[in-house]
Amino acid sequence: MSDPVSFTVHGPVVVLRIQNPPVNALSQAVRQGLAVGMDRAEADAAIKAVVIVGDGRAFIAGADITEFGKPPMEPNLPDLCTRIEASPLLVIASMHGVSLGGGLEVALGAHYRIAQPDAKIGLPEVHLGLLPGAGGTQRLPRLTGAAKAIEIMTTGGQINAAAAIEMGVIDKIEAGDPQEVGLAYAMDLISSGAPRRAISELAGPEAMDWDAAYQGAVSKSRGQISHGAIVRAVQAASEQPFAEGMKRERALFMELLTSDQSKGMIHAFFNERAVSNLPELKGVRPRQLNAIGVIGGGTMGAGIATAALLAQMQVVLIETGEEQASAARSRIEGNLQGALKRGKITQEKFDVLTTVALTVATHYDTLRDVDLVIEAVFENMDVKKEVFGKLDAVCKAGAILATNTSYLDVDEIAAATSRPADVIGLHFFSPAHVMKLLEIVVADKTASDVVATGFALGKALGKISVRAGVCDGFIGNRILAVYRTAADHMVLDGATPYQIDKALTDFGFAMGPFAVADLAGLDIGWMTRKRKAPDRHPDERVPTYIDKLCEQGHFGQKTGEGYYVYEKGQRASMPNPKIPVLIAAEQEKLKITPREFSDEEIVSRYMCAMVNESAKVVEEGIARRPADVDMVLLFGYGFPRYRGGPLKWADLQGLDTVLADIERFAAEDAWFWQPSTLLKTLVADGRNFDDLNRAGAK
Ligand code: CAA
Ligand code: NAI
Repeated sequence: MSDPVSFTVHGPVVVLRIQNPPVNALSQAVRQGLAVGMDRAEADAAIKAVVIVGDGRAFIAGADITEFGKPPMEPNLPDLCTRIEASPLLVIASMHGVSLGGGLEVALGAHYRIAQPDAKIGLPEVHLGLLPGAGGTQRLPRLTGAAKAIEIMTTGGQINAAAAIEMGVIDKIEAGDPQEVGLAYAMDLISSGAPRRAISELAGPEAMDWDAAYQGAVSKSRGQISHGAIVRAVQAASEQPFAEGMKRERALFMELLTSDQSKGMIHAFFNERAVSNLPELKGVRPRQLNAIGVIGGGTMGAGIATAALLAQMQVVLIETGEEQASAARSRIEGNLQGALKRGKITQEKFDVLTTVALTVATHYDTLRDVDLVIEAVFENMDVKKEVFGKLDAVCKAGAILATNTSYLDVDEIAAATSRPADVIGLHFFSPAHVMKLLEIVVADKTASDVVATGFALGKALGKISVRAGVCDGFIGNRILAVYRTAADHMVLDGATPYQIDKALTDFGFAMGPFAVADLAGLDIGWMTRKRKAPDRHPDERVPTYIDKLCEQGHFGQKTGEGYYVYEKGQRASMPNPKIPVLIAAEQEKLKITPREFSDEEIVSRYMCAMVNESAKVVEEGIARRPADVDMVLLFGYGFPRYRGGPLKWADLQGLDTVLADIERFAAEDAWFWQPSTLLKTLVADGRNFDDLNRAGAK
């Protein structure tokens, strides 16, 4: 393996070249290499300047996230940046690709910054539940002012070189080989007698209304604590000398680093990547994917077609008749109009996508040449089987036949064809061109190159793809059914839907379960309750008060009335006054005396139900690893990213505590609260879900 930082002399300039693939993260060896390189350069009287440059695709992507949570190793990053800045030599950072987090902080420690035109900078620590901990909160505002620095650090986005030069974060943009460009710049600076420039010596940013800035950041953070901490660190940059500000930054950084929130977000960072690395697919080649077919152009089919078009694929969509075909085309065009409005595509691109790239037809023959078909027709087994029979008849050999079913048995659908090895579930989430999650449902006979193609499609569409086994609802909807039921039980026992929604949004969920139900349509749950009624266990508690509302034709947002009442065209809502009346009637019928629920108990029951079913899904092999379940809830169900997912949350609570709560709840309702065997085993063995993640890692 090559040196993590190479040292080469070019006349009066030393180049320190970071070589730590894939993204030059600042591991201990890199930090050490930079510190030693600086010492060596300074020890040579002939050297006037140092150029720091990155090898490969990036300058530096930041601190090495794999080191977080381990004992700190010298030299630490803040000291390294201070050490670079304090050098008597001129230090130049020559940046290409990304300079993120600690990477930008190293560059801010340098005296001059030059970047390639396509370089990007950013301080994305907020996405890890952190703040920039190596001087970023102190140096950046000295260049950009406090408000801009707070915006950059609380959003964590990437900024292109043109914007960075405008803000004064970089000094020059020049195309070319980063090392050569850096060397030439160093020679210019030396020959023009340019001075060392230490950002720490600049005045701190002007004061602002810090409490208002703090409140503003907190109000946008949905309970994440790092946003507020960033404001306080910038306040220190304004109010205190640099060295004191650095101490304040360190203290705030350490507080965040040891918080559960950063643990949850770091778990999310690694697992959103790890989730699609399946050991069984190593070396398996996906099939070709150029043109895809979509059957049904309703909500889902139109969304899937939109996603595929935006990923440069040819799409053939089949509907039942001319009227439906035209409605499907309008839905897709509407979706693409949205992309056009947001500047994601140009008008020219819009025209190509809606004409050349898209065919909407009513004859299955049009599907002869497609490589993969995704069926998104009504959720009815007979209709699905009929469609798969037709697909089997027209599609070319080797074409993949996929279903977007939410609940139905993919094995049974596959059996309706003569080629079950080519059949797979591809379960998208609504709206399919926006939501990041894709469940790849592997049936009994699905061939491994078909699974690999499912993952390749997910990647092409920019999705987080998770492998799921066949069961009612796969991973996500199966778990949803259970925690949703826990919420329903609490309503029967005395909590209101509104208190529950509020307690859960305060916990960090994007929406509460009753607001979600209104959005998805109450008819879905109503139909599911009717479908499941014949097989229901006598001990199962199923509230039916909401069915009365459905019987009157109220299905939530789409009809303007559900748990909430919706003003036309608005998302904001008011509690529906009919709901407490319906609930009271059902309580009376069931002879339930309503009781008070604290917000804490609501969260506890909801989360325990979610964790227990998630554990069963892992135990049965429906999900490959606990982290796969976590990613499903994060990307498909609005679970707060800073809590990492239900099973990470359970690990952080302590599995013994979670199991004890479940057993306590089981004393009242043993049918619903049946503790998962896996959970019990882990508690007995003193292990947790993360131990299973590690055991199942690639
Ligand atoms: N530390 C360790 N590993 C990292 C890493 C980091 N900072 N950044 C990326 N990687 C790893 C990824 O885990 C991935 O590994 P696998 O191939 O084993 O899955 C590999 O590098 C490639 O990453 P991507 O697949 O994400 O590649 P990409 O080209 O799509 O994106 C990237 C590259 C933009 C750098 C993206 O990886 C990214 O955003 N990384 C995180 C950047 C970040 O958050 N930096 C701040 C770190 S915190 C910090 O610096 C704290 C501080 O102030 C002290
Ligand atoms: P939808 O009712 O909006 O659309 C279904 C479309 O299929 C209609 O336009 C209909 O004309 C068409 N269709 C029916 N039979 C057909 C046939 N034989 N050939 C061609 N087209 C046919 O339904 P939606 O919501 O899009 O759901 C479709 C599937 O996706 C269902 O299986 C559903 O369970 C699943 N799904 C739905 C989600 C949602 O949030 N709506 C989320 C994930 C999956």
